Amino acid sequence: MEAQTINLHFFTAQYTKNANFLAKPTGFPQSPNWVSLKSPNLSFFGSFLKKSLSLTSSCVVKAKMGIDDELRQEIGRKKLAVFVSGGGSNFRAIYEAILDGRINGDIVVLVASKTDCGGASYARDKGIPVIVFPEKKDGSEGLSPHNLVIALRKYEVDYILLAGYLKLIPAELIRAYPRSILNIHPSLLPAFGGKGYYGMKVHRAVITSGARYSGPTIHFVDEHYDTGRILAQRVVPVLPTDTADELAAKVLQEEHHVYVEVAAVLCEERIIWREDGVPLIRSKENPDNYS
Ligand code: GRF
Repeated sequence: MEAQTINLHFFTAQYTKNANFLAKPTGFPQSPNWVSLKSPNLSFFGSFLKKSLSLTSSCVVKAKMGIDDELRQEIGRKKLAVFVSGGGSNFRAIYEAILDGRINGDIVVLVASKTDCGGASYARDKGIPVIVFPEKKDGSEGLSPHNLVIALRKYEVDYILLAGYLKLIPAELIRAYPRSILNIHPSLLPAFGGKGYYGMKVHRAVITSGARYSGPTIHFVDEHYDTGRILAQRVVPVLPTDTADELAAKVLQEEHHVYVEVAAVLCEERIIWREDGVPLIRSKENPDNYS
């Protein structure tokens, strides 16, 4: 996807633990720092930019110095929880990227819906604590939503990455981690998403539909399946001869790349929220560019 240059301004004073916000058109807080950019496509910024032009000149230089450079020293390493239900190849890709130094964070706990899944075994091998969620009906294993939140707090988790976790995330967890839970889905949402679209069912539906492109989507998690705000996507061509298995393999390969990239972005606090609620990724190389 092409990075897009847009008109934005930041309230650096307002960086919160997990979320950066774009300015609202009214009700400016006390110390706005502005980034002056061009955006033919995002004209809704225009009206309040005009209103603010007189405020910008003294602040532009400071903002352009690179919030990234200043913040990186302050933000420290992020603590991640990864949720899995199966083999956990995305989890492994993220874990390996952390070992390589590509992600400014650590996986402090793995949450598995089944104690004996591949992802949980891998975590145990690597010395990563494993929690089972949800609780089994007979109460023999697993945590309640309330105790899950307590456990994640105990591990001081900053962000949650769902990587092939098939259970619905409870509202209590979403409330406890606003704008801090990501999921990866193996189609270009909003197509081929929602309840019942998981695993090979997604890829079969893509092929049956005749869609010429598919690919993974990373999105924030809300209380429904696959409806949260889209953060990143990668496109994979669907060839006329592709089987569902072949398509799944191609998409999964892209998943590993994009999830590592997005985990890195998250841990560097490079996600900015546009005023209409769309999350954008600020480029590391050029902090004036967003995608
Ligand atoms: C991936 O295709 C992901 O998009 C979906 O579940 C699968 C998980 O694969 N949500 P893995 O367990 O990471 O190998």
